[in-house]
Amino acid sequence: ALPLQVQEYLEPFHLSVEKLREVSARLRKDLVRGLGKHSHHKAPVKMLPTFVRATPDGTEKGDFLALDLGGTNFRVLHVRVVEEEQKVLKMDSQICAIPKEMMLGPGVQLFDHIAACLNDFLVSQNLKGQTLPLGFTFSFPCEQKEIDKSILIRWTKGFNCSGVEGEDVVKLLKEAIHRRGDYDIGSVAMVNDTVGTMMSCGYRDQSCEIGMIIGTGTNACYMEEIKNVRRVEGEDGRMCINTEWGGFGDDGCLKDIRTEFDVVVDETSINPGIHNFEKMISGMYLGEIVRLLLVRLTENKLLFEGRTSEALLTPDAFETKFMSEIEERDGGLENTQNILTELGLKWDSVDSRIVRLVCNAVSSRSARLCGAALATLANRIRVNRRLDHLKTTVGVDGTVYKKHPNFSEELRATVRLLAPDCDITFLVSEDGSGKGAAMVTAVAQRLAHQTR
Ligand code: BG6
Ligand code: GLC
Repeated sequence: ALPLQVQEYLEPFHLSVEKLREVSARLRKDLVRGLGKHSHHKAPVKMLPTFVRATPDGTEKGDFLALDLGGTNFRVLHVRVVEEEQKVLKMDSQICAIPKEMMLGPGVQLFDHIAACLNDFLVSQNLKGQTLPLGFTFSFPCEQKEIDKSILIRWTKGFNCSGVEGEDVVKLLKEAIHRRGDYDIGSVAMVNDTVGTMMSCGYRDQSCEIGMIIGTGTNACYMEEIKNVRRVEGEDGRMCINTEWGGFGDDGCLKDIRTEFDVVVDETSINPGIHNFEKMISGMYLGEIVRLLLVRLTENKLLFEGRTSEALLTPDAFETKFMSEIEERDGGLENTQNILTELGLKWDSVDSRIVRLVCNAVSSRSARLCGAALATLANRIRVNRRLDHLKTTVGVDGTVYKKHPNFSEELRATVRLLAPDCDITFLVSEDGSGKGAAMVTAVAQRLAHQTR
């Protein structure tokens, strides 16, 4: 059996269904707050209009470029939409590294780098003479005025470049391209990764009305009734809303479930006080929560005979991907032992079992919190439409969801408990949100031609 003291440390991570229901009720209130006319500046859950109203109708066509910035990889893509076959084809794509210093340096430098990556890609694809429209997946909270005007509210996750917050990202990109002067792009459509994911899954399943990311960060978007979106004119139809649920709790409303470890993760992050919910859930932070727990248990002589290692004491040295390996059903225990050895720790078999339980407590809490949040959205859609029963599809992406062995199962179980009247199909996005961004660009272009 597990030593009682270890259980005491893990106890705060086990959220009861009752607690999850409370969390869901709080989020439900915050969704409404964020949708208000002026309150969004202060609202922790920002509920940002995306200006995506229509899903593809099948008449779109053409060649598009796409950029995908804000997840694990920065990608440049060439996408072709074929009308006859109603298909989105990914022609080619390239990953382009962004050095860590650049994520924290001047914004001009970041956008020059993006423009240079795009150039290299155009050259390699023999596309340089053409002026193609571009879909830009930019996975940060932006106040969108139109589909091609998108002002960064603030950086999140690992980015903090100066001179970008409060600025129009489309303008910064175009300026960087014009500074080079050797190529140009056509019209631009800006999308959040949740929206890109929803749209790229929407092509395969028409009833995809929610997009969710559980990767470096976490967030979701969904189709809201326009009449409820107080910042956008109109009574009929729907608009996709980027919830930015990562900011849930930033007003202190999740204090009762935050542990001392969450507090440390927040305080030592590059943006203290911001995105509290995300910091309990997403890949950028989960490994660090585990590391802090392991350090504490070791200090209290509950692990490794009280001996830490240099690696264990190094921030971020315990990677989130270790959790997936450790929690694997069959090879998990062996993986745990290899990882502990790698980290310079002397373990016995009890240690390795405790480490596994620690990882499981942290990843389960993440999955259950996400499940509670997703249930809140599904319930909202159902009530909006006055339905007794809602059948809908969620497009999902992100390394935590895709790679962790039991994350998706726990998330689904929680949604079933908290949204029993919603029947949700989960569709994993196949090759990123870039296709979706191209699709949004294609729809915007079709609409522009129609009204011309
Ligand atoms: C990718 C999408 O597949 O997943 C990105 O193309 C998204 O737009 C990313 O940001 C999220 O996952 P992660 O784990 O890379 O942050
Ligand atoms: C962060 C960003 C959000 C994005 C999410 C997932 O929460 O603020 O815009 O969707 O990460 O990448």
